[in-house]
Amino acid sequence: MGITPKILAFAGSTRTESYNKRLIKLAVAGARTAGAEVTLIDLRDYPLPLFDGDLESREGLPANGRTLKDLFLAHQGLLISAPEYNSSITGVLKNTIDWVSRPCPGEAPLGCFDGKVACLMSASPGVLGGLRGLVHVRAILQNIKVLVLPDQIAVSKADEAFNPDGSLKDPKRQAAVEGLGAKLAQMIAKLHS
Ligand SMILES: Cc1cc2nc3c(=O)[nH]c(=O)nc-3n(C[C@H](O)[C@H](O)[C@H](O)COP(=O)(O)O)c2cc1C
Repeated sequence: MGITPKILAFAGSTRTESYNKRLIKLAVAGARTAGAEVTLIDLRDYPLPLFDGDLESREGLPANGRTLKDLFLAHQGLLISAPEYNSSITGVLKNTIDWVSRPCPGEAPLGCFDGKVACLMSASPGVLGGLRGLVHVRAILQNIKVLVLPDQIAVSKADEAFNPDGSLKDPKRQAAVEGLGAKLAQMIAKLHS
């Protein structure tokens, strides 16, 4: 691998016991094993007000929005585990994307997203594993110029899927999730070689 791929990883949930936070850790391990430098963040550590154009006009980008923007700018890849709410993206993930997508002086339009490569996964106690939400997350990211890898995994019955140590009970599934992280790392390396 010529370059060291830099990946920003997070779940679209702030919940302490989030299944998606558990899942993203497995993909992060796969990406690191494949040689990537991964920054795993918890969106709970970057609370943002609901996007409001009047607030933005008055006060500009909130400090956490600036920090998140800088994190996005510093990485080539996005590894995201996105829960499904009412068949779609969670509010916290959409709100994060909305703030981070806002233009700032001196920055290229959509500079935080343009040319990034993303890989998606989801986990849900439901039988579809959050698959329907991923359709929306994929569309949103693609429309803001992110290249989203075709491979994705939706872990169904997530309330029964994990061991207490955070691994998945199904070793094939565990390997597949780690493989997703590795694939993202390899794709970034190829694109930047
Ligand atoms: C407002 C709301 C809507 C939800 N809608 C769906 C849904 O459409 N499909 C689904 O599989 N699960 C749905 N769920 C259940 C979530 O998958 C479940 O809460 C899951 O644990 C959220 O992910 P997390 O564990 O990473 O926080 C919903 C949960 C909430 C709070």
